[in-house]
Parts: sequence; structure tokens; C-alpha cells
Amino acid sequence: MILANDAAKLRVPMSQPSIDEDDIAAVLAVLRTPYLSMGPKVREFEQAMAEYIGVAEGVAVNSGTSGLHLCMEAEGIGPGDEVITTPFSFVASANCVLYQGARPVFADIDPVTLNIDPEAVEARITKQTRAIIAVDVFGQPAAVEALVDIARRHSLTLFQDSCEAIGAERNGVRIGSQGRAAVFAFYPNKQMTTGEGGMVVTDDLDYAKVLRSLCNQGRDESGTWMNHIRLGYNYRLDEMSAALGLSQTRRLDQILDRRERVAMRYTERLRHVEGISTPVVAPETTRMSWFVYVVRLDEKVDRTRLIADLEQDGVTSRPYFVPLHLQPLYRQRFGHQPGEYPVTERIAQSTLALPFFTDMTDTQIDYVCTRLQKRIALTRDRSKVAL
Ligand SMILES: Cc1ncc(COP(=O)(O)O)c(C=O)c1O
Repeated sequence: MILANDAAKLRVPMSQPSIDEDDIAAVLAVLRTPYLSMGPKVREFEQAMAEYIGVAEGVAVNSGTSGLHLCMEAEGIGPGDEVITTPFSFVASANCVLYQGARPVFADIDPVTLNIDPEAVEARITKQTRAIIAVDVFGQPAAVEALVDIARRHSLTLFQDSCEAIGAERNGVRIGSQGRAAVFAFYPNKQMTTGEGGMVVTDDLDYAKVLRSLCNQGRDESGTWMNHIRLGYNYRLDEMSAALGLSQTRRLDQILDRRERVAMRYTERLRHVEGISTPVVAPETTRMSWFVYVVRLDEKVDRTRLIADLEQDGVTSRPYFVPLHLQPLYRQRFGHQPGEYPVTERIAQSTLALPFFTDMTDTQIDYVCTRLQKRIALTRDRSKVAL
């Protein structure tokens, strides 16, 4: 048995960046120049990313959150405005609306794709609604055709929080060009990384100019040093991060293929395990950009206990996501209560993210699956057998 002696015990982290010798050389090369910020690498990275997504402009920023914030600011979202988004996401998808003094309004999700349900979005539109933020949760594109249509019919602006979905495709089209702008994120748990970092992409040249100014302290278009034409921020990406991003963009498709392989092995190993449902890839998702591997647990499985048990085996796992409307900040500010978004709440109680990263070995995947299967059998059957 795999834990018959402790020597067989592995420690498998939730995530781990994939860094190769080219990445290291690219960062070192920047350190040998005098340009550690506002040099040529940021522009090269922006152009490479715009080309990869198939849009006119990329604006590099120092995080996905900064990118989302700038999108709201450049759109003029402010007090009195409402922006519709999903409660099943990372907190930045809604916080970017709060930063502007506007109100995030949640719409429930589709139980299969876990993405915002277009019908629920339409039902939440009021006179105050200005925009929709679609999130491509766990790397699966949102139902963007329906959202584009709703936005057009109601004169709303569509944004794509694609922080978890770089390279994903829906109906054969790469995501990131369907709304006013899309935001990608490059924290080290993401498919590709710049350390901290993000990128806003858009086809709207005027909008891109405003984004560029906002992320550079509100300087004018030419970046004149002491000429600030609007209230801006320092959300700039530095040159080392941009060089890493550029190097990673060059092998992004290879990275996504390797992640797909890890996901397929997980699914192969887990699809017949009692108590677990493996992730569903919708028929419209012609390319999944695997960000995390999230299984759903049968309601009889005690998730808290399972996470603690797996931790003892050296396997880290997480409950992804805790619904946004039930976060203490949102409950206090808006008086949200359990029961408001039943699909999100039901799903959120059952999800478990397993260790997942580009360079995960078969041995690591198999170890996680073996431990998971054994631990689930144990949580279901309290007549504990010695491991
Ligand atoms: C859906 C979503 N939006 C926004 C972000 C924010 O990105 P960052 O951590 O780079 O600020 C994340 C990061 O995990 C995310 O998953």
C-alpha cells in the first residue's frame, strides 16, 4: 500500500510555476541593461499578447486586479452605477466595481459550466446597470455570444475577466476580443506567469490610450514626465516581469497542452471513483485553458475532513470558490444572506481543487488520486481501517 512506510509519502503542492532556462536567461538579460522599468520589454510583451489574443492593443499592468480596476475607471463606472457579475469567482471580479464606489450585482451561474447564466444576467438589469463582467471560471469560456447580445440590446458594456483562461477558445474562437476589453492575470499559480502581473487587451485604440495613461500616474499619451492629465495609478509592470511574460508567451500553447495532459490523466483516474464528479468541458469549449482541476464531491463526503486528511498525506487541496456574496465584506456592506444564489451556493459547497500544475508528473497525479480515493472511502465509511 502506498503509505505502508513514510518513504513513499510525497508532498504535492497546489500549484508550481513552470520556469525553463529560456525564462531565466530572459530575466537575467534585463538585469544586465539599465532599463528595469519603462523599457522595451513591456512593449514587446504587450504586442506579443495582443497578437496571441487577436486584438489591436495590449496594456501590461502589475496584476489582474489592477487591470480590472483600470477597465472600470476607463469606462467611467462610478457611484450610482451597477455592474453585473458572477458570485462564483475570485474576489477581484467584484472588488473592481467597489473600488469605483459602484455596486456589484450578482447573477447566478450555470450548474454545468459554473459560469454566469445569461438569463440570470438579463433578469438583474435595472436602469442603473452600466456593464457586465463575464468571468471564464477555471479556464472555461463564459457563454459570451449570449452576453454580447444582451449587452447590445440593453446598451451595456461587456468586460471579460479572463484572468483564469488565457488561450481558451469557445466555438473555435479565442477568448479576449468579444467585449470592450479582457483582462488576463499572471500570478505564479496561473497557466503562465510574470511573478505578479496582468494584461488588458482591447480592440478600441482610444480606450487603450486611457488605460495606458491610467496605469502610468495619469500622464498624457506621450508619457510626459510631469504632465498629469487625469487621476492615475502606478500599476506599471516592470521589465523583468515583462521579459518573463514574453518568454512564457512564446511557449504558451505548449504549456496549455501539457496542462491538458495532466487534466486528462486526472479525469481518467477519477471518473469512476465513487463520491467524485470530474470537471465538465462544455461542447462549446473548443479549447479549455486548464487553470485548476476542480472536482465536485458527493454531498455525503465531509469536505473539511477530507482536506485535513489529504494534508496529512502531503496533498494540498482547496475549496474553490467561497461565494462572493457570502464573503464577510459583501455581507456587511450589502446585507447578502445565504439562499440568494442557490446554484452558486450548492456548487460552492461541493467543489474541491486538487494540486495542478504544468510540470506535474504521472507519479504525483497518481499519488493524489490514490490518496483521494482512499480518503473519500474513509470519510464515507466511518468504521476506520488503519491506513
Ligand atoms: C477570476 C479572477 N479575476 C481576477 C484575478 C486577479 O488577478 P491577480 O491576482 O493577478 O490580481 C484572479 C486571480 O486569481 C482571478 O482568478
